[in-house]
Amino acid sequence: MNHRSDMFVRNCWYCAGWDYHLTQGKTSLLARRIANEPLVLYRKPNGAVVAMEDRCCHRQAPLHLGQKEGDALRCMYHGMKFGPDGICIEIPGQEKIPPQARVRTFPVVERDNWIWVWMGDPAKADPALIPFAIGPSDKNWNIKTSQMSVRANHRLEIANLMDLSHLTWIHRKTLGGNPAWVTAKIKRTPLERGVNSDFWMYSTPAPAFAQHLFPPAMLFDIHMNVDVTLPCNFILHFEAWSAGTATEGPSNGQLILDSYSCQAVTPVDQDNVEYYYSWGSSVATDLPGLSDMLREGVDAAFLEDKAMLEAQHRNVKERPDGNRLSIVHDAGPAMMLRILDQFLAAESESP
Ligand code: FES
Ligand SMILES: [Fe+2]
Repeated sequence: MNHRSDMFVRNCWYCAGWDYHLTQGKTSLLARRIANEPLVLYRKPNGAVVAMEDRCCHRQAPLHLGQKEGDALRCMYHGMKFGPDGICIEIPGQEKIPPQARVRTFPVVERDNWIWVWMGDPAKADPALIPFAIGPSDKNWNIKTSQMSVRANHRLEIANLMDLSHLTWIHRKTLGGNPAWVTAKIKRTPLERGVNSDFWMYSTPAPAFAQHLFPPAMLFDIHMNVDVTLPCNFILHFEAWSAGTATEGPSNGQLILDSYSCQAVTPVDQDNVEYYYSWGSSVATDLPGLSDMLREGVDAAFLEDKAMLEAQHRNVKERPDGNRLSIVHDAGPAMMLRILDQFLAAESESP
C-alpha cells in the first residue's frame, strides 16, 4: 500500500451522509468515523446539525451513547453535559467546571441534501469549497439516493473513479458492456481541488442494464462530464442522445436522457470508505420508473466495484510494493492522486 494510504487531508469538507440519515428523533445520534476521527452528529431542535468528537473529554466514553437535551448532548457515563459548541455546561455532583471540560466540534454545512463536515482548522472552513452537486430535493431533477460501505482504501476508490475504462470490464453486465470506454478520448482539466474529465462516445450501444428498453441495433452518443474533487467526490453530468452523425463535439442526435449522478466517497480509515451516491434524470427527460431504474443500475454496478476493490485492497495490503507497471489507463488516477499528495504534503509542512 502507498505510504500515504493512512493520511488524510484535514482542511477539506467530508460528506457525512444524506440529510435523511439524521432526524430530530430523541435517539438520533449518528456515529461516523471520518478520516480516522470518531464523530457524533445530531440535529438541534432548530434543525441545525452539530458534529462533535465522539469521545467524552472525561474518560473517552463515546458520546453517541449519550442523549440529546435541547441543543446539548449529555454523556451517559457520568452525566457531563456539553453545549453545541462542545463546552461543558454541567458536571453532575460538582459545581466548578474546569476549562478543559470541552469536546472538539467541527464546522457543518448541509447542501444538496448532503451533510458536509470540515475536518481541519475551523477558520479555514470555506463553504465555497463544497463541490457543486444536484440533490434529491432539486425540483428540476428526479434524483434517487443510495449508500454503500466498502472495505478498501480511498486511494483505490480515487483510482477507480478516475479510470472509467473499467466500465468495459468490471461493469460489463451493468453500466458498460461495450469497448467504447477503453478508447474514449478524455479531456482532463485541473480544478482547484481536483480534475474535470470531459468526453463524448459516439454511436455506442446502450449500457447492458438498459438494453431491454431499446431496439437491439439502436446506437447512442454519450456525453460524460465529471468533476472529481478531494477527498473523493465524483459529480457526473451524463447525457445520452440518439446517435447522430457528429464525430466530434456535441451530438446532433435527439437528447434521450439528461441526468446527474453525484457521488461522495468518504474515507473512514485506511481500510474503509462510505459511499453516498445518487443517480436520476432531469424532469424534462424523465419517465415513470426511469430514475428508479438508474439508481438500481448504479447499485448493481457499485456492488461489482465493491467486490473488485475489496479483493484488490487485500492484495495490496499483503504486498504494498507489488504494482509492477503503469499502463495508459493510469494517467487519470495518477493525476488525481498527485493532487491528493500535494495537499497532504502542504499540510504536513504547515498543519
Ligand atoms: S466519560 Fe463522559 S462523563 Fe465520564
Ligand atoms: Fe465502477
